[in-house]
Amino acid sequence: MCGIIGYLGDKNALEIMIEGLTKLEYRGYDSSGLTIVSNENLYTVKKEGRIEKLKAAVKDLNLKGHLGIGHTRWATHGEPSDINAHPHMNMKNTISVVHNGIIENYIELRRELEAEGIVFKSDTDTEVCAHIIDKYYEGDLYEAVRRAVKILKGAYALGICAKDEPGRLIAVKKENPLIMGIAKDGYYISSDILAILDKTKDIIYLKDGQIVDIKKDEYKITNFNGEIIEEKIETIDIKTSDATKEGFEHFMLKEIFEQPDVIKNTISRRLNSKGLIDFEDLKLTAETLKSINRIYIVACGTSYHSGLIGKVIFEKFTNILTTVEVSSEFSCNLPKLDENTLVIFISQSGETADSISALKAAREKHAKILSIVNVLGSTLARLSDYTAYTWAGPEISVASTKAYSSQLILLYLIAIDFSKKLNLIDEKAEMEILNNLKEIPKKLSSLLNDLEIYKTFAKIAVSKNSVFYLGRFLDYYTAKEAALKLKEISYVHAEALPAGELKHGPLALIERDTPVIVISTNEKLHEKMISTIKEVKARGAKTIAIVSGEYEAFESVSDYILKLPEIDSIFAPLVSVIPIQLLAYFGAIEIGSDVDKPRNLAKSVTVE
Ligand code: AGP
Repeated sequence: MCGIIGYLGDKNALEIMIEGLTKLEYRGYDSSGLTIVSNENLYTVKKEGRIEKLKAAVKDLNLKGHLGIGHTRWATHGEPSDINAHPHMNMKNTISVVHNGIIENYIELRRELEAEGIVFKSDTDTEVCAHIIDKYYEGDLYEAVRRAVKILKGAYALGICAKDEPGRLIAVKKENPLIMGIAKDGYYISSDILAILDKTKDIIYLKDGQIVDIKKDEYKITNFNGEIIEEKIETIDIKTSDATKEGFEHFMLKEIFEQPDVIKNTISRRLNSKGLIDFEDLKLTAETLKSINRIYIVACGTSYHSGLIGKVIFEKFTNILTTVEVSSEFSCNLPKLDENTLVIFISQSGETADSISALKAAREKHAKILSIVNVLGSTLARLSDYTAYTWAGPEISVASTKAYSSQLILLYLIAIDFSKKLNLIDEKAEMEILNNLKEIPKKLSSLLNDLEIYKTFAKIAVSKNSVFYLGRFLDYYTAKEAALKLKEISYVHAEALPAGELKHGPLALIERDTPVIVISTNEKLHEKMISTIKEVKARGAKTIAIVSGEYEAFESVSDYILKLPEIDSIFAPLVSVIPIQLLAYFGAIEIGSDVDKPRNLAKSVTVE
């Protein structure tokens, strides 16, 4: 939800803004803008639409300067337009602000400012920041910002510059991500490391309630009271190639292909010298675990789907009653929680506002909190008692793929670790499970060898306005993920159903050539799934069966079959997800959508 970038240094700030915004575009892409400080003046350009439009708008302006701030937007307050695009400025156009987040008290602040004679140009909440900073400005931008943040309510990461201080960049972090990069050529601020990965690997993860005051060769970090804070510079271990497509047409395809390695990596990071699962660094002791009588798994979207599978795995391996909830629902209907409850949050970004707010609610009830996140140092990670990183590497495509696989594999590993701590599993059984899990990458690779079949399936899936995915038990959860993926990037209405529910209503929607995709990876359920196929075929459906194990019987009933590699059904979700991701990907190609940046969406959803 919006990306911000800022730079003060020796290089040309315009180039850095454009490059950075292009890399941040996944965070929001309905408009973008920048301010460059040049010849002691502020030059601001803002454009509705993709970064390409901004690039075209600045191309011939010959904007040269060493200080700049930029923004790519996902609209919350005010429609996407040139006017509502950031940066936003005070009336005299001497202070420029970019913002990621929401100013919760902006209506009241706007009323007060208007009463004082301020004329607003945009419909955004952000514009109040520029006017308030202006109100307090007496020649010291840092001081003005410090006073302003005391009255701003909500979540915000800000980048600010002023005409009268052309060598000063101020940044603020409160509940929205912001990092600072330190390079030989100068200082960077960014919503995400990815935007500056090719500039520096030396990063400061700013904390909530911090202001950075950056000048030419120095910077200071303070809290909102002005007290200096020493923050550690961390050298991050992320490859520059993680932020590029590496020859793939889209990030989504690249990330699908990364999954065998991601799974291998996530497993190997969790094995000790004896080759056994090790979560010692989590510091979640056997004693603590024995006190847990209830687990909640809480997440959104794709991460919620991995949680649904996690529930089955946790109950199987730990015998602890486990419930899965969508974050936004969990917060508004909080169950009974106490210190004997473990709440597990799953999130790729670690910045999803719905999950953060659910976490805070759980924290108030003294529940223990474990988060499974991908982005290092993210808000969920920092707010949790225990954090397990998925180590999938940066996921850039809005449609989540490798993050999902890494969450799944980690859920299996954590469940087994818990099982060990609860003395429910011996070493031999653990090794057997691990051997099964270690086989998964090979199986995934075999599904990535030939992509033609997925293109055929995709054509069928997007040929109608409605698609149904059917499954039972774990396959139903994979079906849910399949439907989300197709909706998200192919704009086709897709519905996942537990196969047994079909006859209780939805069967009425099946007509000639309605695409029905059936996932069946549990041999014990094959017969029932075959009956389901017969039911929909009898109503004219066009069927695709994704099957593991004995598949011959499906051949005579289904129009198309995709045979998955042999796999124990309990691990099947790790494998069956590949065809459904590729089907959605090629569906998006078929309809010509912007695969990595589907309409109306953004990668990390930092508003509730
Ligand atoms: C997945 O393809 C989606 N883009 C979306 O559902 C996503 O999984 C959801 O917004 C949760 O994000 P998180 O994992 O970063 O919390």
